[in-house]
Amino acid sequence: MTEDINDVRSSWDSKANDWKKQVGDQGDWNRRLNSDPVLFEMLGRVRHRSILDNGCGTGYLSNKLDHLGAEVTGVDLSPEMIRIAQQEYPELDFRVEDCTKLGTIEDGEMDIVVSNYVLMDTPQLQEAVNAMFRVLRPKGIAVVIFSHPCFPQTDCKVHPNGSISYDWKHSYYEPSRQHDAPWKHFKSDFIWYHRPLEEYWRAFRSAGFRVDDFQEPHITPDNYHLAPNMTVLETYKERPISVAFKLVRPNR
Ligand SMILES: C[S@@+](CC[C@H](N)C(=O)[O-])C[C@H]1O[C@@H](n2cnc3c(N)ncnc32)[C@H](O)[C@@H]1O
Repeated sequence: MTEDINDVRSSWDSKANDWKKQVGDQGDWNRRLNSDPVLFEMLGRVRHRSILDNGCGTGYLSNKLDHLGAEVTGVDLSPEMIRIAQQEYPELDFRVEDCTKLGTIEDGEMDIVVSNYVLMDTPQLQEAVNAMFRVLRPKGIAVVIFSHPCFPQTDCKVHPNGSISYDWKHSYYEPSRQHDAPWKHFKSDFIWYHRPLEEYWRAFRSAGFRVDDFQEPHITPDNYHLAPNMTVLETYKERPISVAFKLVRPNR
């Protein structure tokens, strides 16, 4: 596992500059059009709330939350991601932290934890969920978004007749460590951890969370006009890319 975490850290360190290109200040199109609207709906009011952006990458979401008046702390395993986040948003509090430990965050310190496309990238799911639970105050909420485990995007094919197929190379039910070839402007493989959806659900319940909401974020008609072109619009109307859970730490 230590080896896995070290691999994960160096893999993201090597991608940090390219990640900044991917998400910029506003998030990439998937975030902007599909998952951020669901994330903000699940978060509700954020003004004056203490929020942990857990696995913040280069910090676009921390910055958005700060603009909405939240008191944000951004943490990430990758020192290189944190270096860029600090350079981009010097007024914000960013720290190098492993989300399975969150050693600089006190028990019950946070009103809200956000985990935006992180859990499929970390080998220790239960430890990461337990740490989120620990740092939340009673009645605090966690909004957790990760890549949809049922629809692997890099193995998706769109056929000339318009039909879509997913080329499964691994068992759905068997957890496994995966490598994806670099996509777009990235130069190195992506390491990620496949798990069936039920394993996430079990980890949330076993940490003590109540599952309050579940959505499969996709573009809604009021946002169709924001899509940069028809291909993106059709893709986002048809293909599930992520899942979003709203979790509550019960008041006891
Ligand atoms: C797909 S990126 C998402 C970054 C950011 N949340 C966003 O949406 O732009 C995944 C991030 O999770 C971080 N990460 C992976 N494992 C982690 C861990 N154990 N603790 C903290 N961060 C981790 C990576 O360094 C990377 O920045």
